Amino acid sequence: MTLPVRLSASILAADFACLGQQIAEAERAGADWIHVDVMDGVFVPPISFGLPIIAAARKSTSLPLDVHLMIVHPERHVESMVAAGASWVTVHTETCPHLHRVVQQIREAGARPGVAINPATPVCLLEDILPFVDMVLVMTVNPGFGGQRFVDTTLRKVRDVRARAEALGHEIEIEVDGGIHAGTAPEVVANGANVLVAGTAVFGAPGGVAAGIAALRESVVRDLAG
Ligand code: DX5
Ligand code: ZN
Repeated sequence: MTLPVRLSASILAADFACLGQQIAEAERAGADWIHVDVMDGVFVPPISFGLPIIAAARKSTSLPLDVHLMIVHPERHVESMVAAGASWVTVHTETCPHLHRVVQQIREAGARPGVAINPATPVCLLEDILPFVDMVLVMTVNPGFGGQRFVDTTLRKVRDVRARAEALGHEIEIEVDGGIHAGTAPEVVANGANVLVAGTAVFGAPGGVAAGIAALRESVVRDLAG
C-alpha cells in the first residue's frame, strides 16, 4: 500500500461551544482531515447536526471535510452538503438501493465519493461499486455513538477490502471509524486501513487534542517501524 496513513479527527466528540477553536487546534496538531458525522435519528438513533455545522467547520479550516452521512435518503442532501463545504461524502450501502447513482451524484456535485458498511454488512456487497469509489469506510463500531468499543471482527473485513481493491488495481482510501485509539490503530493499519477516524481519542484525550493526535501517530509509526 502506498497511500499515506491519514488521521481524520471526528468533531462528534468536540466541544461545540468552541467548535472553531477545536478544529483549529486539531489542524495545528497535525490532523489531516476533519470528520463530520451527520445523523438523522432514523438510520441511527441520535440526531447530530447538519448543514450549518458543515458550513461552520468549512470556515474554521482549510483541511478536507470528510462528511459521513448516517441518514436515509442521502441523495436528497448531496448537493447542499457539497455547497456547504464537504470535500468527501460517504454514504452507507444500507441506506442506498441505488448506490451507483448516488456515487455518481457525489462526484458530479464536486466531491469525492465514499461508501460505508456496518460491522454486520458483508464486504461482498461492495464488489460492483468498488471501481467507482475513492474510499471505503469500514465501520469498526455500530454507527450512531462515539466512545464505543472497537469490534474485532471488522479487521478481517478491512483486509478483505484492501485485497479486493488491489486485485482491481484500484488505489482507494480505506477508512475505519469507531473505537480507534493508540491501542487499535496499529492493527487496523497493519490490515490495510489508511484513514483513521478518531473522535474520543482526539477531542476527549485527557492531555488535550495535541497529545491525543501525537499518541495516535506514534502508535502507528512505532508499529510500522517494527
Ligand atoms: C460513530 C461515528 C464516529 C464517531 C467515532 O457512529 O461515525 O465518527 O465520532 O467516535 P470514537 O472515535 O469516539 O469511537
Ligand atoms: Zn463517522
